[in-house]
Amino acid sequence: MTTFRDGLLEGKVAFVAGGTSGINLGIAKRIAQLGAKVAVCGRDPDKAARAAGAIGPDALGLSADVRDFAAIRAALEQTAGDFGPLDIVVAGAAGNFLAPALGMSANAFKTVVDIDLLGTFNTLRACHDLLNRPGASLIAITAGQADQAMALQIHACAAKAGVNQVVRTLAIEWGPDVRVNGISPGPIAGTEGMERLSPPGMREASEARIPLKRWGEIEEIADAAAFLCSPAATYITGTILDVDGGSSVGDAGRMDFAKGLS
Ligand code: COA
Ligand code: NAP
Repeated sequence: MTTFRDGLLEGKVAFVAGGTSGINLGIAKRIAQLGAKVAVCGRDPDKAARAAGAIGPDALGLSADVRDFAAIRAALEQTAGDFGPLDIVVAGAAGNFLAPALGMSANAFKTVVDIDLLGTFNTLRACHDLLNRPGASLIAITAGQADQAMALQIHACAAKAGVNQVVRTLAIEWGPDVRVNGISPGPIAGTEGMERLSPPGMREASEARIPLKRWGEIEEIADAAAFLCSPAATYITGTILDVDGGSSVGDAGRMDFAKGLS
């Protein structure tokens, strides 16, 4: 599916926080396929080792909780020590579950905000002096909840809105040496996120509301990440790239009754 030539990221070093499964692992694999040396990081060391094995023999699988600044800093330092200065950092770790605000303790709300928002800040803040500058590219993985309020996800809505502002603020503060962008995936098939957020039997109805009429694939997010950290995107910073089949446009499906008019 990729349209990028082999070797596009040859000589680059990448670190993917939350890269041990799902969308972020897909991003790590794509960046490695294009020639970069890649480290992935999650809480579970066995899962991290398996992910590294799936990426390739040279990949690093590291364990750190993004809520712990010292731990994520140590993982970044190990990557720079083994591979050299970092060219690409992806802040993708996240947690989510469905619960109404009244069914959520303060600690439940804080837990998701800490993983998604503080974790993104920690990952990006901790990597700055380890970056290969100028030219480094940082990517935060956000979500449509940042702009579109959703019942049962008050924690993720608040956290991802904050992530978007972290992206924009760092783009201002760290330009021109470092580019900072976000990717906002739509519903992506075969992921933990959709397992948790889409009740069984709801996929068809969910797809009907998307302009492109389907959920996305992990590889489609990986391609967007490869683009953002490639030489094709050197004038792009501070943007949130929606890779969501048009979900965020907002009006999909409302005029279905009028199809006969078109
Ligand atoms: N409904 C309401 N509250 C919930 C909940 C649910 N479904 N799941 C967890 N919580 C609450 C817990 O009860 C706890 O609050 P309390 O101390 O007041 O009881 C708080 O959230 C923290 O839970 P804990 O299990 O200690 O957190 P953790 O740090 O071990 O795990 C999670 C973080 C909860 C986000 C967990 O689901 C996780 O590890 N997720 C990662 C994978 C993921 O979510 N992938 C999808 C990404 S979009
Ligand atoms: P996933 O497979 O559950 O991936 C989450 C990753 O983060 C795992 O590697 C997990 O490993 C790690 N992680 C979780 N908590 C962590 C912590 N505290 N510290 C360090 N690592 C942690 O989820 P996914 O569905 O692919 O989602 C990936 C990203 O895409 C998330 O940012 C999510 O918000 C975003 N997104 C997903 C969708 C979707 O359709 N799935 C849509 C929009 C946005 P450990 O459990 O071992 O820590």
